[in-house]
Amino acid sequence: MTEVLVSGLTKRYGSKLALHGLDLQIAPGEFVTLLGPSGCGKTTTLRCLAGLERPTTGTITMGGRAVVDTERGVFVPADKRKVGMVFQSYALWPHMSVSENVAYPLKVARLGSQDRQQRVHEMLDAVGLAGYEKRQVTALSGGQQQRVALARALAARPGIIFYDEPLSNLDSKLRYQLGQQVRSLHDQFETTSVYVTHDQEEAITLSDRIVVMNEGEIMQDGSPAELFDRPNSAYVADFMGFQNILPGEVVGVDNGIADVKIDETSLVVSGTTTTRATLGDRVNVAFRAAHIRVHADATSDPGRFEGIVERTTYLGNATNLLIRADGLPLRVRLETSDLRIDEMPAVGDRLGFSVNPARAVVIDVIQREEPQSDEFLTTKTSALVAPR
Ligand SMILES: Nc1ncnc2c1ncn2[C@@H]1O[C@H](COP(=O)(O)OP(=O)(O)OP(=O)(O)O)[C@@H](O)[C@H]1O
Ligand SMILES: [Mg+2]
Repeated sequence: MTEVLVSGLTKRYGSKLALHGLDLQIAPGEFVTLLGPSGCGKTTTLRCLAGLERPTTGTITMGGRAVVDTERGVFVPADKRKVGMVFQSYALWPHMSVSENVAYPLKVARLGSQDRQQRVHEMLDAVGLAGYEKRQVTALSGGQQQRVALARALAARPGIIFYDEPLSNLDSKLRYQLGQQVRSLHDQFETTSVYVTHDQEEAITLSDRIVVMNEGEIMQDGSPAELFDRPNSAYVADFMGFQNILPGEVVGVDNGIADVKIDETSLVVSGTTTTRATLGDRVNVAFRAAHIRVHADATSDPGRFEGIVERTTYLGNATNLLIRADGLPLRVRLETSDLRIDEMPAVGDRLGFSVNPARAVVIDVIQREEPQSDEFLTTKTSALVAPR
């Protein structure tokens, strides 16, 4: 179980700055996922950690040992870092059998042939491929090849394993099964894991901690629940699947809940504040489609607003509604388990809606006036994002 400390990591490709000075701490035994859209620098970060790429500046310490220190000219290459790697493309040696592939890192580590054989058996057993020793890897399915790659990565008992979108080439059911296997191997062999994906669901189900990246920077770093429930910016909220992100102004604050008047409407939505917000502040309020309650009657109780159903999309277990409330398009997800079949909302229906304030977040706070002291400063204020 290797600890990793990264400080001020940058990587430049020609004129392109791919990493903007990352700081990252990974505890021994942690399963950390780098999550973000294409081109945000996930692979570059992973390759710098693994020793496949030379950072432009920064330091990386692994298990107490400096493996990168650009100022002192320290660079320890991948094969001297005791790491395992699993790639999207499997990267197996096609001319070797299954057992030869798994045995290869053991040969490099100079394990005796008896021990090697025993370890290969143990590893193939762990990934559910006992009996496949003699098969050519080209005669295996994609899922089986990736399990060989997992066995190979773990065979030499590295303290840390790097995964770069290892499940992306597999179908969704297999992706789920193999993902669970990756996590249980992590627990069983007590490694540290750094995992790259652009799939938020995969990140949430596998990780102890998720690091959301954007254009070479870390936007937020927290537990799956923190990121899922309490994104700190419109960027992270959007990436974590908040379907409604609306700009507005704070018109009331009480006990960690801010009331936000949505721009160009008379709607007021209340949400939980994660950074201090005061009257008149510009903010975004974000909430999930599933966290809007639907009421059959369109009364004018506080916190309740009226909307007209513009579109319905039947999903089997749920129905997505696009509603328009005071000119504003909102996305609502209704679980069908809560409804009788003859109760399904239809286009043109006028219904009441309310947002659960505990489930809505008020983010991207921009103070109305100049901050009076440091405590008023927010950690990160990103540009306001218009609803999609
Ligand atoms: N060898 C290279 N030469 C030049 N630019 C590169 C190189 N490798 C990566 N980049 C650039 O660095 C940025 C980050 O790339 P990176 O591969 O780390 O992204 P990523 O988050 O892994 O994306 P994806 O999800 O598509 O794999 C991109 O703008 C990319 O074009
Ligand atoms: Mg990549």
